[in-house]
Amino acid sequence: MKFATIGHFLNETDIEQFPESWIHGNLIVSPELNVHGTKGYITGLTLTARQMMVLPREDVRRHILDAALFLQNEFGVDIIQLGALTTSVTDGGVWVAKQKGYKGYVNHGDSYTAAVTSQAVLKGLQFFDKKPSDQIIAIVGAYGIIGEAVSKILVPQFHHAILIGRRKEKFKALEKSIDGDFETTVELKTKEADVIVTATSHPEALLQSEHLAKEAIIVDVSQPPNLSYDMCKQRPDIHRIDGGLVDFPVDIVIPGMPPGKNFACIAEVIMQAIENEQTNHVGSIDLNHLRKTEKWAEKYKFILKELTNFGQTIKKTT
Ligand SMILES: NC(=O)c1ccc[n+]([C@@H]2O[C@H](COP(=O)([O-])OP(=O)(O)OC[C@H]3O[C@@H](n4cnc5c(N)ncnc54)[C@H](OP(=O)(O)O)[C@@H]3O)[C@@H](O)[C@H]2O)c1
Repeated sequence: MKFATIGHFLNETDIEQFPESWIHGNLIVSPELNVHGTKGYITGLTLTARQMMVLPREDVRRHILDAALFLQNEFGVDIIQLGALTTSVTDGGVWVAKQKGYKGYVNHGDSYTAAVTSQAVLKGLQFFDKKPSDQIIAIVGAYGIIGEAVSKILVPQFHHAILIGRRKEKFKALEKSIDGDFETTVELKTKEADVIVTATSHPEALLQSEHLAKEAIIVDVSQPPNLSYDMCKQRPDIHRIDGGLVDFPVDIVIPGMPPGKNFACIAEVIMQAIENEQTNHVGSIDLNHLRKTEKWAEKYKFILKELTNFGQTIKKTT
């Protein structure tokens, strides 16, 4: 199967990073990639993260569908992956999968991202010689697609969990589906936690210094990041870890990405295309599929080898 990822800009200056030959109207399209003989493209809408969230939802969805149709009709793409906030604005990708003109498959890439995020949390604790069973974890965006899966995997392993969202009524289903000691709240009570996972659709930094306990570990999977580079400088006691970044066994040159690494969601669709698995992966994550993506990742070497912060390897300071 031929794959394409559809992302978007994080901010206005992003367009300056791309060669002119990549620009196709409102869509940036990479040169054709070839991964173990499977071909595809990394593409992005020219909308910023903020525009994705504040423009009328039907307009943003139209841009996404137009991109999917263009990739299907002009580039022969069979499967698209909805990157960054394109999942949030399409009801977890379910809306795209229902559109009649688009005949291919849809994957939000959140299954392997949630797996890698959970791995990064456990690896991070090990790195700092801490046990999950002694720790309080806060998950921000807990009933979102990634947040829900991460909550199911991690909450039972922790001493206590604070599951954070914006709408009280959205917690009902989550509360029934997870085990362990937890509370749910619409307050940003992250300061009570030793470990924080951010998996929100908030289009900019969310966590400020007053939200962070001393020496907190923050696994930030959100794109754009919910914890800024500047905050890491301002609070050298805290430890920010990239949530959804994995090693790539092939060279995919995307402006702004650290060499040899890329997003887990991109890895997921590439692996699905190589495996020729002809199905959609949209909406709530099936944990069996999530485990399968981890096996694929071992097989094709799209794995989390080392912890990074904004792409830089995290090293022990003492
Ligand atoms: N690194 C990677 O490989 C990778 C891959 C995929 C996605 N991502 C990123 O991961 C994040 C989550 O993606 P997703 O697909 O799980 O999105 P999602 O299903 O839309 O979930 C996001 C959740 O965040 C909640 N939220 C938004 N603002 C909040 C705030 N201020 N406080 C608390 N909760 C808030 C939303 O709540 P409401 O529903 O109430 O609005 C929603 O439930 C996004 O930033 C995305 O770009 C990264």
